[in-house]
Amino acid sequence: MSEYVVLMEHITKTFPGVKALDDVQLHLKTGEVMALLGENGAGKSTLMKILSGVYTRDSGKMEIFGQDIVGDLNTKQAQDLGVAIIHQELNMCQHLTVANNMFLGRELIKNGRLDTKEMNRQAQEQLAKLGIMDLDPNATVGDLPVGRQQMVEIAKALLINAKVLIMDEPSSSLSNAEITEMFRIVHELKAMGTAIVYISHRLQELHNIVDSVTIMRDGKYITEGKFKDFTMEEIIANMVGREITNQFPRDQVARGKKILEIKNLNAGRMVRDVSFDLYEGEVLGFSGLVGAGRTETMRAIFGADVKESGEIILDGKKLTIRKPDDAIRQGIVLAPEDRKKEGLCTKLSIRDNIALPNLDLICNSTGKINKKIEDEMIEKGKNSLTIKMPGPDSQAGSLSGGNQQKVVVAKWLARESRVVIFDEPTRGIDVAAKVEIYQIINTLKKRGIGVIIVSSEMPEVMGISDRVIVMCNGKVTGEVDPRTVSEEEIMTYATQFGENAS
Ligand SMILES: Nc1ncnc2c1ncn2[C@@H]1O[C@H](COP(=O)(O)OP(=O)(O)OP(=O)(O)O)[C@@H](O)[C@H]1O
Ligand SMILES: [Mg+2]
Repeated sequence: MSEYVVLMEHITKTFPGVKALDDVQLHLKTGEVMALLGENGAGKSTLMKILSGVYTRDSGKMEIFGQDIVGDLNTKQAQDLGVAIIHQELNMCQHLTVANNMFLGRELIKNGRLDTKEMNRQAQEQLAKLGIMDLDPNATVGDLPVGRQQMVEIAKALLINAKVLIMDEPSSSLSNAEITEMFRIVHELKAMGTAIVYISHRLQELHNIVDSVTIMRDGKYITEGKFKDFTMEEIIANMVGREITNQFPRDQVARGKKILEIKNLNAGRMVRDVSFDLYEGEVLGFSGLVGAGRTETMRAIFGADVKESGEIILDGKKLTIRKPDDAIRQGIVLAPEDRKKEGLCTKLSIRDNIALPNLDLICNSTGKINKKIEDEMIEKGKNSLTIKMPGPDSQAGSLSGGNQQKVVVAKWLARESRVVIFDEPTRGIDVAAKVEIYQIINTLKKRGIGVIIVSSEMPEVMGISDRVIVMCNGKVTGEVDPRTVSEEEIMTYATQFGENAS
């Protein structure tokens, strides 16, 4: 028998207009944690969907636990063989309970009825194996934070006795505490002999858990080996096909006049008396722990959430913003953090996604779309971001995760705004595309636009902002110069719960 639990060779897969995989190989051993790396659209998710039976390969050899897979493999067969996948975009049934989700498609039946009691018992048992004691199997999944939902997915994988677990960007929407817990669980699974394929664009975290790497580029296999035999520069160069010298480019632009003034903003529990200024040609970073109120502050400014009190002054003029449309028309736009829920209509084309918030610019007085303006707008968005896509009419949901994020950004680049707010703009985006987004931020800055960026990645917010505001528990707790501040100092502000702690 082969020494590999999974062996894939010469795998190809073509979608209409895209060769997603071209002669790719992957070798995974028992108890190994392998990082599968590559830029957005490199084919990582596609390869893993083939291994888990979601997609069928066009050609190539595939062995799972030494068993040659002849012909197509479906998801049920893959599960029976011990392969489980946690998808990049978690797809759980939000309205079902924890236990129901874990037993989906394999429900236990007693006397012709669902045996809820036994399913709950077994669900709890699996969760306990992962060291999770405080999660009610009867809780509705949609009510849980993303980190917990992910634990349910992992427990579900244990339930089907998975010996190969694929984790497609599990950390991209977790808080630091949740990531630490996930790492602990990965170590536990590994100790039980589970082999894991771990996909992530957060290269800094890999050293915590990874034994080996396989690197892909443009649908092709590039290299593999032990993680410790690569430097980070080598990994990046293999992913990108060239060296990236400056991961965080920050252009110097003279700070202009004050554009935006936020005065004593209050909105719900998470935005308490927030005040700050933003200047022309400035990138203002917002740092803090997940849940500090940064997203809520931006949503309140943008009119996505109701404000209780406070003033928003743009270019010296007090604005009334009751809904996002008011903000957009007056020159304040927001690229939200959750692209699937709020940033994109995944079923619509890329064209429609870019056109939708800009209809005021592309419709004539009778409300008819001016095709020429629309085409120019799509071109502009596409070119400024090098979105990898078959054409503007493809469905936004069929793009790779990172390319979807670029569409979210592209729709705002199509219009002239005074203030652009980015909430976690590079989540799930590869290292080269991140630099592209930073360059766009630099371009906006040079045009005299005020940019706000909310980011949980400390190196990012420190690397590209001109000034950083730190929030904790709904309040502004500090303002720092990112060129001179230490991470410790920021953490001090980020944990300053003070008298507001609840
Ligand atoms: N269902 C689909 N229909 C059409 N094209 C697809 C489909 N799924 C993937 N593709 C295309 O295949 C290519 C590889 O995509 P894939 O999702 O595997 O990339 P990835 O490496 O996972 O990227 P990311 O890091 O952004 O998630 C992309 O060009 C993508 O647009
Ligand atoms: Mg992917």
